[in-house]
Amino acid sequence: MKTPIIALNMKTYPQSCGEAGLNLAKLCQEVAEQTGATIAVAPQQTDLALFISVLGIPVFAQHVDNVKQGSTTGRITPENLWAIGCTGTLINHSEHRIPAEDVRLLVQKCKNLGLVTIVCTKDPEESKAYARFGPDFIAVEPPELIGGDISVTTANPEIVSDSVKEVKEVAPDVKVLCGAGVKNGQDVAKAIELGAEGVLLASGVVKADDQRAVLMDLANGI
Ligand code: G3P
Repeated sequence: MKTPIIALNMKTYPQSCGEAGLNLAKLCQEVAEQTGATIAVAPQQTDLALFISVLGIPVFAQHVDNVKQGSTTGRITPENLWAIGCTGTLINHSEHRIPAEDVRLLVQKCKNLGLVTIVCTKDPEESKAYARFGPDFIAVEPPELIGGDISVTTANPEIVSDSVKEVKEVAPDVKVLCGAGVKNGQDVAKAIELGAEGVLLASGVVKADDQRAVLMDLANGI
């Protein structure tokens, strides 16, 4: 996957559920094709297989469970994601935290299956700790800024630059994304200036009146 990337987490917003979500994902694909930007989507979990079957852009799961295949009812295993052709998965999102040991094991399992991992963290310290597990990406997102109007790149730019510094110190190949409040091309450009290789965002696109315009603006920030 070419970086920088714009990764859109659709969460469970009504505006990104089912058909509305699929239309939004198709819009992401159109904008990616028009601009050459890498745009990845993380649809609602129930939409994963459908989106993968119709889209040509990277598709990530929002979460995966550290459980074995078999008698683990209602969970999603890394093998499930691999079987439907998922690109990869978010792990430890701020709204779905898991124990550190599960993060470590999931990164390993996903790696063995060829799934791309984006491990979410809350600050530079956690970014450093989880970078040691060797994910493809660390996505630092201060929880208090998630869903808000001020981008992390404006409210707390050091959290991004410090995460990049800490991560590169222990794992130079791990790429850093940032998220929380990211809404426009300026925020994306600033993230890249701070050393990030892309952004992870949700509400700025999903809740926008003109999703296409926002996606174009974000892509132009690269
Ligand atoms: O996963 C993305 C995320 O938590 C940031 O959300 O709404 O602040 O872009 P948002």
